[in-house]
Amino acid sequence: MKEKINILKKELGITFEVFTRDQNAVKSSSDLDLLENKYLGKKSLIAQTLKNINDFPQEIKPLVGKTVNEIRRKIEDELKNLRNELNLLEFDKKLREEKFDLTLPGRALLAGSKNILYKVIEEIQEIFIGLGYEIAEGPEVETDYYNFEALNHPPDHPARSLQDTFFIDDRILLRTHTSPVQIRYMEKHKPPVYIIAPGKVYRKDYDVTHTPMFTQIEGLAVDKNINFGNLKWTLETLARSVFGKDRQVRFRPHYFPFTEPSAEVDVSCNICVGKGCRVCSGTGWLEILGAGMVDPNLYKFVNYDQDEINGFAFGMGIERIAMLKYGIDDLRLFFENDIRFLKQF
Ligand code: DAH
Repeated sequence: MKEKINILKKELGITFEVFTRDQNAVKSSSDLDLLENKYLGKKSLIAQTLKNINDFPQEIKPLVGKTVNEIRRKIEDELKNLRNELNLLEFDKKLREEKFDLTLPGRALLAGSKNILYKVIEEIQEIFIGLGYEIAEGPEVETDYYNFEALNHPPDHPARSLQDTFFIDDRILLRTHTSPVQIRYMEKHKPPVYIIAPGKVYRKDYDVTHTPMFTQIEGLAVDKNINFGNLKWTLETLARSVFGKDRQVRFRPHYFPFTEPSAEVDVSCNICVGKGCRVCSGTGWLEILGAGMVDPNLYKFVNYDQDEINGFAFGMGIERIAMLKYGIDDLRLFFENDIRFLKQF
């Protein structure tokens, strides 16, 4: 029995020696896998001895098991150390091979571009801030009261009809213009009032020249001694800043429920300079906004004393201004945010 154990011990001793020699030849993790398989795999002396342990007499089985496991653990430890070393080496090698060439030109990031509508809004805001106006805002989901009633729309006014307005219920709707901001602002502030209010508005309209959502800027000035001449000067200043200093402005009588008198305002065509072309339909004029003197009825809704003050108001569509200014002929371009389009401005 002793003999058998001694033979086994000797064999295992030799195995470990050979392992140590083989171990020195390992250069990569695949070498290491082969080594592990050779000494601990199914066909290895260690695995075979443990598998056939029943061939040994009962009394020495524990000793055989212990002897084999000792060697196995030693080999396992060695393999583990070796694997750690190899990992480090391989990582180091990878780092050295992946050197960065700092002289290579960088790859430029594709930057976005501001939507042209916002550029026009900002430009108009700048003009009015320069004239002492403040910027005001109001909600896009509005009540009938602010969108219509307090703006002096009689109950049967056609603009209230279901055709134009997105109603949410009897009372709540998507604002159809930025004019409700006039009322909201006057409710909270005493005169003098000088504001402009940009924002999105909504109407049930969809064709080549209309989208269900579009953008407006509203203007309102209420003070002592405001007259139509002030309105005219203000809009001429606006038109010349936006379209060029030689532009002419003309007022055509019109009707809006919230202004009296009311006008539609045209600017002389910047493309044909008044001669008549396709863009201005041969008239030499381009309509750019609606305006007028604030109807005194509105002051009742906001508790202003109508004997003390007067005011003017105006409202314009930003898409239209941008189309005329930049010669854009397709409304969809504003909303697609195609960077190739936006980059041109
Ligand atoms: N709210 C009008 C619209 O959407 C535009 C407008 C006209 C605004 C005259 C005004 C104004 O402030 O005085 O068609």
